[in-house]
Amino acid sequence: MTPQHTGTVLELRGIGVSFGGLVALDDVSMTAATGTVVGVIGPNGAGKTTLFNVICGFVEPNTGSVLFEQKPLRPRPHQLAAKGIVRTLQGVGLFRGLTVLENVMAGATHTARAGLVSALLGLPRSDRDERRLRDEAMTLLDELGIAEHAQAWPGTLPYAVGKRVALARALVARPRLLLLDEPAGGLGGEDVDELAALIVDLPRRSDCSVMLVEHHMDLVMKVCDQIVVLDFGRVVASGTPAQVRDNPAVAEAYLGAEVGS
Ligand SMILES: Nc1ncnc2c1ncn2[C@@H]1O[C@H](COP(=O)(O)OP(=O)(O)OP(=O)(O)O)[C@@H](O)[C@H]1O
Ligand SMILES: [Mg+2]
Repeated sequence: MTPQHTGTVLELRGIGVSFGGLVALDDVSMTAATGTVVGVIGPNGAGKTTLFNVICGFVEPNTGSVLFEQKPLRPRPHQLAAKGIVRTLQGVGLFRGLTVLENVMAGATHTARAGLVSALLGLPRSDRDERRLRDEAMTLLDELGIAEHAQAWPGTLPYAVGKRVALARALVARPRLLLLDEPAGGLGGEDVDELAALIVDLPRRSDCSVMLVEHHMDLVMKVCDQIVVLDFGRVVASGTPAQVRDNPAVAEAYLGAEVGS
């Protein structure tokens, strides 16, 4: 099965952000094709997180525009999931007082599907909606290979399992664009490989495009269709993993960072 959509899921045009006198992003333009995995890499302080924050509406750019599915997006963090964009937080970020299954179900509370009318009327979600959501959450846990942890408390989970729960919680909202903030952060070798296999599959299996910020080069090279390289807030290279790997500007950006740090 190949992804159904063609086209552009996300386009950034001339994004500029400055914090006081510091230019964090300078005329950043990029496009992410629907059904692909796009990586944003670059040395510390390059502007990667700021770029995510612009897409999510946490940071308002001084210049430029964001287009989601070819329409101008005026991002507001609390409306993002309803629009089809979900971001995972750095780290794990689960609710400690809820079980794994409940955490995943909570990921769907801001979608219109389950209980918009109930919510408007101030009524509890119907039993049927709740059961359907529970089934969906269980299916996701199963697909991510962590169904056995459904009734566990987040505090008791191995770190790598917690990261997968967070992924399931993002997916239950059925995003069309999933933003992953350092998904491999804190994971060891084997867990990174397994995560890579999951991410590569997302466009096809969950019908969503993926954009990720990641320092873990192995993962980036393995899972991304396209990579955008930032350095000092500017796009210094972009292309396929092979093109980026062979681009001298990329080595320079990282070398410069190493020498400078
Ligand atoms: N809210 C803010 N106020 C002031 N400066 C900021 C703010 N957020 C980021 N910056 C600065 O903007 C630049 C880009 O930061 P950003 O966090 O986007 O980099 P990054 O590529 O995500 O780095 P890292 O790999 O270390 O996470 C840095 O110089 C940073 O200090
Ligand atoms: Mg960052």
